[in-house]
Amino acid sequence: MTDTSHDRLLIIDFGSQVTQLIARRLRELNVYCEIHPYQKVTGAFLADFAPKAVILSGGPASVIDDGSPRPPASVFELGVPLLGICYGQQVMMHMLGGKVETGHGTAEFGRAFVTPTADHIPLLDGWFTADDDKEQVWMSHGDHVSEIAPGFQVYGTSPNAPFAITADVARNFYAVQFHPEVHHTPNGAKFYENFVKLAGFSGDWTMGAYREEAIRKIRETVGDAKVICGLSGGVDSSVAAVLIHEAIGDQLTCVFVDHGLLRQGEAEEVVAMFRDEYKMPLIHAEEQELFLGQLDGVSDPETKRKIIGKLFIDVFQKHASAVGGAKFLAQGTLYPDVIESVSFSGGPSVTIKSHHNVGGLPEKMGLKLVEPLRELFKDEVRALGMELGLPKSFIGRHPFPGPGLAIRCPGEITRPKLEILRKADAVYIDQIRKHGLYDDIWQAFVAILPVRTVGVMGDGRTYDFACALRAVTSVDGMTADYYPFSHEFLGETATRIINEVEGINRVTYDITSKPPGTIEWE
Ligand code: XMP
Repeated sequence: MTDTSHDRLLIIDFGSQVTQLIARRLRELNVYCEIHPYQKVTGAFLADFAPKAVILSGGPASVIDDGSPRPPASVFELGVPLLGICYGQQVMMHMLGGKVETGHGTAEFGRAFVTPTADHIPLLDGWFTADDDKEQVWMSHGDHVSEIAPGFQVYGTSPNAPFAITADVARNFYAVQFHPEVHHTPNGAKFYENFVKLAGFSGDWTMGAYREEAIRKIRETVGDAKVICGLSGGVDSSVAAVLIHEAIGDQLTCVFVDHGLLRQGEAEEVVAMFRDEYKMPLIHAEEQELFLGQLDGVSDPETKRKIIGKLFIDVFQKHASAVGGAKFLAQGTLYPDVIESVSFSGGPSVTIKSHHNVGGLPEKMGLKLVEPLRELFKDEVRALGMELGLPKSFIGRHPFPGPGLAIRCPGEITRPKLEILRKADAVYIDQIRKHGLYDDIWQAFVAILPVRTVGVMGDGRTYDFACALRAVTSVDGMTADYYPFSHEFLGETATRIINEVEGINRVTYDITSKPPGTIEWE
């Protein structure tokens, strides 16, 4: 739990796929909230957390089943507004004396339309805006409430959910069957706005306030000790570094590991910005020989990742130890990384790719962690970066993976191939920027393929590498769609790459979405 002076809202998670979206909707309203799994939320936890309002999330379980998840009964005694969503509604009804039944043709997955009943409550201000007085919502439930609990009234119904919107206004308890947090409930933001308004939140969770509070906390935590920070040049570590530097100045030293797998001009850009502009103590660890040497002849993707991950830790540790006496390690960990998700499958999920980070380092080096972005979502980190004055072009940069170009070079990695890849990538990104598409795309890059193809240039035969262009849209990198470039754009880009990059004579466009593909090629 975070120590914050802001009013806080507690989201009790019952395992819905979209619980994080509730938090996002609330953060957009400048309300501070935290998600905690139901197993952890005991009566004592509730008393300690002292929420100003509580939301019970959706979830896959059935309240009728023995041992199904419950919030502590004391949640109904707190005297604060309560909102139950889907499973949250069912569990409220079940615990407060109503009835929940399973299926029998009333399961609903997808779009539905809710019609208001005669009475109106402030929670529904500005709702039912459509001409025909029906509001589109998103339903996803097998069970349904068949009898509402004493004290509750119905304020909205849908053909399959007669108790779509229910409330006990006297106690400030609200319970709905649909999911107002998802995109497919178009007026959902208004719903949450009304809820936090009636709960009395002032909307004081702004980036300016966050910055001041974070700086105060960093100073309190660190005192006069030294801090080291692994700077990758990505948005998260950059914002963390600038924030910590603002808090403790030169007590912070950044280590930028150059593994020889960076994009064109990347190392120079990062060093110029942090060392020259921000005047931060920065170690530019030039370890290209070491990484490329150990990757020589390696073509298996997981082996590449493991080598890079291990070397990264060794190199970081070596340079960090040279700082002398550092007691803290700063990391750009984000909120989605720390939310403890509710797992019903029980088993470990399959490893698709081993992501590389500096996990395990703090214990090994006897360091404590400073993670000033732990409460933020990615877009909030970007907003904080703007607040801290980082250039917009830097904040809006596409994500770049830790293993760098190694995973965009299927097969063996060689220096000539990396050089070709860097040049092609630079032309591609230049094209995207020139056409004003950069900010519409989550991530775009070139992969150099381990095949040579025959071509004809002028009057001569060529036998050069083929490359693949990749561009995707995504919200969080978990799923992605390929970007629908125009044929003109693709044609122009292919011509430029073949003309400007020696070593490539064929350009393809990767039109695989994720799933079934992944964003990176390895
Ligand atoms: P995939 O390829 O798994 O990538 O669809 C999803 C997102 O994660 C990035 N990525 C990584 N980031 N270390 C990182 O810091 C890694 O090892 C790594 N592998 C993939 C990828 O660029 C995309 O944004």
